[in-house]
Amino acid sequence: MQIVLTQALPTQAATVATIVNQGTMPDGFDPVLAEGAKASRFKGTAGQVFEGFTSSDGKAARVAVVGAGEASSDSRRHNLERAGGAAIAKYLRSGETELILDLSQAGLSAEDAGAVLLGAKLRSWAHDEYRTKLTSDKKISLETVHVVGAPEATDADWERAAAIARGVELTKKLVTEPANIVYPQSFVALCKEAFAGTGAELIVLGEAEMAELGMGALLGVGQGSRRESQLLAIRWNGGNEGDKPSVFVGKGVTFDTGGISIKPAPGMEDMKWDMGGAGAVAGGMLALVSRKAKANVVGVMGLVENMPDGDAIRPGDVLTTMSGQTVEVLNTDAEGRLVLCDALHWAQETFDPAQVVDFATLTGAMIVALGNEHGGLFANDDALADKLLASGKATNDKLWRMPIGPAYDKLINSPIADMKNIGGRWAGSITAAQFLHRFIKKGTPWAHCDIAGMVWSDKPGATHEKGATGYGARLIDQFVADNAE
Ligand code: BES
Ligand code: MN
Ligand code: ZN
Repeated sequence: MQIVLTQALPTQAATVATIVNQGTMPDGFDPVLAEGAKASRFKGTAGQVFEGFTSSDGKAARVAVVGAGEASSDSRRHNLERAGGAAIAKYLRSGETELILDLSQAGLSAEDAGAVLLGAKLRSWAHDEYRTKLTSDKKISLETVHVVGAPEATDADWERAAAIARGVELTKKLVTEPANIVYPQSFVALCKEAFAGTGAELIVLGEAEMAELGMGALLGVGQGSRRESQLLAIRWNGGNEGDKPSVFVGKGVTFDTGGISIKPAPGMEDMKWDMGGAGAVAGGMLALVSRKAKANVVGVMGLVENMPDGDAIRPGDVLTTMSGQTVEVLNTDAEGRLVLCDALHWAQETFDPAQVVDFATLTGAMIVALGNEHGGLFANDDALADKLLASGKATNDKLWRMPIGPAYDKLINSPIADMKNIGGRWAGSITAAQFLHRFIKKGTPWAHCDIAGMVWSDKPGATHEKGATGYGARLIDQFVADNAE
């Protein structure tokens, strides 16, 4: 679906959807339709849609009003995104191929208009490739959205929004594709394709190189898989030469069976999205590379598949990480931290970061604590934590701060190695964070985002269909925009 900013209406008849603030109707709106909207209890709250028909040259023409909530709302930006998304959700599979989106009635600034268009673009992404029997009335029909009534300066905001949408779409695609399609090497190949011609540098390490570097933990997780593990770094030098980069690290377990500590069968298919942290990092990088962000940034992704096998690691095995610290593996299903500890160590050694932020679908306990509303944020630096919380609020990729501390840290001491890879029954998300903390160098500001509850949704949302939410890409883009540019 393409979005075209235009001053002139298309000549053919097309559905018109007008964005309106709460309690208002478009100037010159057909009074019968206005009455109909009222009778349907349309109030103009954010995302509410009323559709009616009017006769035009003896033909029925669709007309819609889409609520944007109150003009003075604190959530104005999110409400505008929601309105843009709602208009698209209504017409994406409606049979209409063209839609006129009228922005002239809600008193929008260029930035506001950009928010509506971002919501529209994000909500239009769908993955129907494998649904070969989809009946034509369920297929995507909408091809072009003609945007009228936007302030002239909207072009730049739309360009920015389009860059963000590109990133979020990459995240959604990587998360949505099943594990027979997205595995470590194909994840790398998809990124090579997505970043071709952008000026970003891709660094790829295979198993031999990682073995040379001593990444026994990451390689241990991938040991039971037929797929070769990969470490991918995407580097963007858009800032001043010599400025230390912001480094984002993602957990990219392309499928998590649990390994020998195998997971129960029901719901195991969800573990195709256990690479959501890496997906967020790839998408975040694509967003900021696409808009040529003036900052030095690196995205590092540890890509492995966790399988049970004759070669797989066993409970009780001791692994030596690249940092030299040893780990007793008590549960092969606590694999994300094993992948991240080597990726985090390598990232710090290689890029000397100003700050490191990791993203991972790390623990089921995080979903128990925060549900699907917030990712959990753990940090050794209050200023960094506050910046991430602010970026989360701005983008609606929400985070909530969780504690760390020495009392939790001692829960992962091991009698045979430097640490074990699980704590006890309680505070499972925190002991996972403590594990990662042991691989952060003194003085490096670090934050860990446990996004297990955020990557996938069993219902459609303002900016996504049922399935991949695209969480994290926008957060990364915003964090860089606000703090590194
Ligand atoms: N990938 C899972 C965490 C997860 C669970 C993400 C559900 C999304 C939805 C992770 O690798 C895992 O298996 N964690 C274990 C840790 C436990 C063995 C200490 C868990 O949460 O049960
Ligand atoms: Mn696991
Ligand atoms: Zn996992």
